[in-house]
Amino acid sequence: MEKLPEEDAIYQPINFNEKLELIIEHWTPKIVAQMNDYQLKLVKIQGDFTWHNHPETDEVFIVLKGCMQIDFRDGLVELQTGEMFVVPKEIEHKPFAEQECSLLLVEPIGTVNSGNAGGDMTAPSDVWI
Ligand code: NI
Repeated sequence: MEKLPEEDAIYQPINFNEKLELIIEHWTPKIVAQMNDYQLKLVKIQGDFTWHNHPETDEVFIVLKGCMQIDFRDGLVELQTGEMFVVPKEIEHKPFAEQECSLLLVEPIGTVNSGNAGGDMTAPSDVWI
Protein backbone atom coordinates (compact mmCIF):
# COMPACT_ATOMS: atom_id res chain seq x y z
CA MET A 1 0.00 0.00 0.00
CA GLU A 2 1.28 3.41 -0.88
CA LYS A 3 2.19 5.59 2.03
CA LEU A 4 0.23 8.79 2.47
CA PRO A 5 2.48 11.84 2.45
CA GLU A 6 0.90 13.14 5.65
CA GLU A 7 2.10 10.16 7.63
CA ASP A 8 5.63 11.46 7.58
CA ALA A 9 4.59 14.74 9.06
CA ILE A 10 2.25 13.42 11.74
CA TYR A 11 3.97 10.36 13.14
CA GLN A 12 7.32 11.82 14.08
CA PRO A 13 9.07 11.21 17.37
CA ILE A 14 10.25 14.15 19.41
CA ASN A 15 13.99 13.67 19.84
CA PHE A 16 15.37 15.24 23.01
CA ASN A 17 18.95 15.48 21.73
CA GLU A 18 17.91 17.15 18.49
CA LYS A 19 15.74 19.63 20.36
CA LEU A 20 18.44 20.34 22.93
CA GLU A 21 20.87 21.27 20.15
CA LEU A 22 18.52 24.16 19.33
CA ILE A 23 18.80 25.59 22.83
CA ILE A 24 21.70 28.00 23.32
CA GLU A 25 20.73 30.10 26.33
CA HIS A 26 20.49 28.87 29.88
CA TRP A 27 17.28 29.17 31.94
CA THR A 28 14.98 29.60 28.92
CA PRO A 29 12.52 26.68 28.83
CA LYS A 30 11.21 25.73 25.37
CA ILE A 31 8.02 23.77 24.78
CA VAL A 32 8.38 20.50 22.85
CA ALA A 33 4.96 18.95 23.46
CA GLN A 34 1.59 19.45 25.08
CA MET A 35 -0.59 16.91 26.84
CA ASN A 36 -4.06 18.15 27.78
CA ASP A 37 -3.41 21.27 29.86
CA TYR A 38 0.22 20.46 30.53
CA GLN A 39 3.34 21.21 28.56
CA LEU A 40 6.68 19.44 28.37
CA LYS A 41 9.60 21.83 28.15
CA LEU A 42 13.31 21.38 27.63
CA VAL A 43 15.75 23.68 29.37
CA LYS A 44 19.50 23.93 29.85
CA ILE A 45 20.66 25.34 33.14
CA GLN A 46 23.97 26.40 34.64
CA GLY A 47 24.77 28.39 37.74
CA ASP A 48 22.20 29.72 40.19
CA PHE A 49 18.57 30.45 39.46
CA THR A 50 16.52 32.80 41.61
CA TRP A 51 14.56 31.81 44.74
CA HIS A 52 10.88 31.49 43.85
CA ASN A 53 7.75 29.42 44.29
CA HIS A 54 4.77 28.54 42.15
CA PRO A 55 1.58 29.43 44.05
CA GLU A 56 -0.65 27.53 41.61
CA THR A 57 1.19 24.36 40.71
CA ASP A 58 3.69 21.61 41.44
CA GLU A 59 6.66 21.46 39.08
CA VAL A 60 8.37 18.35 37.67
CA PHE A 61 12.14 18.27 37.07
CA ILE A 62 13.49 15.34 35.02
CA VAL A 63 17.26 15.31 34.45
CA LEU A 64 18.16 14.20 30.92
CA LYS A 65 21.87 15.02 31.02
CA GLY A 66 24.18 16.23 33.76
CA CYS A 67 23.37 16.81 37.39
CA MET A 68 21.75 19.57 39.38
CA GLN A 69 20.47 20.40 42.81
CA ILE A 70 17.37 22.11 44.04
CA ASP A 71 17.79 24.11 47.22
CA PHE A 72 14.92 24.52 49.63
CA ARG A 73 14.81 26.72 52.71
CA ASP A 74 15.16 23.61 54.87
CA GLY A 75 17.26 21.27 52.73
CA LEU A 76 18.17 20.27 49.21
CA VAL A 77 17.83 17.47 46.68
CA GLU A 78 20.59 16.39 44.28
CA LEU A 79 19.51 14.95 40.94
CA GLN A 80 21.63 12.92 38.50
CA THR A 81 20.92 11.94 34.90
CA GLY A 82 17.84 9.73 34.86
CA GLU A 83 16.43 11.08 38.12
CA MET A 84 13.44 13.32 38.75
CA PHE A 85 11.79 15.32 41.50
CA VAL A 86 8.42 16.98 41.98
CA VAL A 87 8.59 20.37 43.69
CA PRO A 88 5.29 20.91 45.52
CA LYS A 89 3.40 24.10 44.85
CA GLU A 90 4.07 27.04 47.18
CA ILE A 91 7.42 25.59 48.31
CA GLU A 92 10.30 28.02 47.79
CA HIS A 93 13.09 26.56 45.70
CA LYS A 94 16.27 27.54 43.87
CA PRO A 95 17.62 25.29 41.11
CA PHE A 96 21.41 25.18 40.70
CA ALA A 97 23.85 23.38 38.42
CA GLU A 98 27.62 23.69 38.64
CA GLN A 99 28.04 22.42 35.06
CA GLU A 100 25.51 22.67 32.26
CA CYS A 101 22.54 20.36 32.86
CA SER A 102 19.66 19.51 30.52
CA LEU A 103 16.18 19.04 31.95
CA LEU A 104 12.68 18.09 30.94
CA LEU A 105 10.04 20.07 32.81
CA VAL A 106 6.36 19.17 33.08
CA GLU A 107 4.02 21.95 34.10
CA PRO A 108 0.63 23.50 33.30
CA ILE A 109 0.33 25.79 30.28
CA GLY A 110 1.47 29.30 31.10
CA THR A 111 3.70 28.39 34.05
CA VAL A 112 6.44 31.02 34.39
CA ASN A 113 9.93 29.79 35.24
CA SER A 114 10.51 32.34 38.00
CA GLY A 115 7.04 31.84 39.52
CA ASN A 116 6.14 34.56 42.01
CA ALA A 117 9.60 36.16 41.98
CA GLY A 118 9.82 37.79 38.55
CA GLY A 119 13.11 39.49 37.76
CA ASP A 120 15.88 39.19 35.20
CA MET A 121 15.73 35.42 34.84
CA THR A 122 12.06 35.33 33.86
CA ALA A 123 11.71 33.73 30.42
CA PRO A 124 8.73 33.73 28.04
CA SER A 125 6.50 30.76 28.86
CA ASP A 126 5.09 30.16 25.38
CA VAL A 127 8.05 29.48 23.07
CA TRP A 128 8.06 26.21 21.11
CA ILE A 129 11.05 24.57 19.45
NI1 NI B 1 10.25 26.64 39.87
